[in-house]
Amino acid sequence: MTDDLSAQLLAWYDRHARVMPWRIAPQDRAGGVRPDPYRVWLSEVMLQQTTVAAVKDYFHRFTARWPTVAALAAAEDAAVMGEWAGLGYYARARNLLKCARAVVADHGGQFPTTRAGLLELPGIGPYTASAIASIAFDEAATVVDGNVERVMSRMFLVETPLPAAKPAMTALAQRLTPVDRPGDYAQAVMDLGATICTPRSPACGICPWSHACAARAEGVQAELPRKTPKADKPVRRGTVWLAHRDGAVLLERRPERGLLGGMLGLPGDGWDGAGGVVPAEADWQELGEVRHTFTHFHLILQVLVGRAEGTAARGDWVQMTDFRPADLPTVMRKAWDLARVGIVEKLP
Ligand code: ADE
Repeated sequence: MTDDLSAQLLAWYDRHARVMPWRIAPQDRAGGVRPDPYRVWLSEVMLQQTTVAAVKDYFHRFTARWPTVAALAAAEDAAVMGEWAGLGYYARARNLLKCARAVVADHGGQFPTTRAGLLELPGIGPYTASAIASIAFDEAATVVDGNVERVMSRMFLVETPLPAAKPAMTALAQRLTPVDRPGDYAQAVMDLGATICTPRSPACGICPWSHACAARAEGVQAELPRKTPKADKPVRRGTVWLAHRDGAVLLERRPERGLLGGMLGLPGDGWDGAGGVVPAEADWQELGEVRHTFTHFHLILQVLVGRAEGTAARGDWVQMTDFRPADLPTVMRKAWDLARVGIVEKLP
């Protein structure tokens, strides 16, 4: 029965696999083309918490600039953080570099080829280890992401809400994972969840598994998976300052640990728990507010801009000609876009 199910899904995947820049099409895999573990790893780290559409351009830029894990390991931290800007969850970028350097230093530039070996690397958790082991090395490891949980909850009519149901979903997903073509299978379940078994209106009419789907038999597929409601996010308020002087702006690289760790930003007043004094004497003017939502809170930031006098109490002066706004994380980019209006006419 489970063999039939995996064979049916693989047959569907052979016809409908999505095209992705890091993916080897099932026909090419069947012809012996192997995926590059570096590209599989990079894409999987980027895809955590981020959509395929948002990741594609970043993936192209990263692989053009750093085509191998050795090239990435040799990169400057600031260059990698800059290319990552806008993708969010910046701890992922710091771990990405740590992992690349560990692969080079401890494994001769080759990724370990088993799930157990991959789990030893920094920043590689159970999901990513299973994804790389299956997709890059065809180990029968089970990949469980949000798509897979949704598919399992419907196929097996799991009424227990998430996150409590996670272990049960993993066990069910393991039962279905085949020994034959596990790499294609892992990508097939994720594609099924992303394109057919979608959250709100699943396309059961064209689903290769609808005949075996317990939720569909009961007509409750759109209600699953159930989820324990999350507590409302709190709202935090804070201030950031954009000081300018003689064609330069005052920027600060954030501490490695904590929110937006290692990213470039405007000095702030401690809305992130880090504390912070006014960075310079200036004719400060309020320009308005920007809003941004993080995983655990909504943030409203007041943006002040001023022409600085004397020395700065913190941060570094960066010439506008050396500064790429695209290197800023999204919340800082929003503040910059607002503040820029206030300084453009004052710049030399
Ligand atoms: N989501 C995360 N990784 C994926 C993959 N390899 N294929 C399809 N969707 C994904």
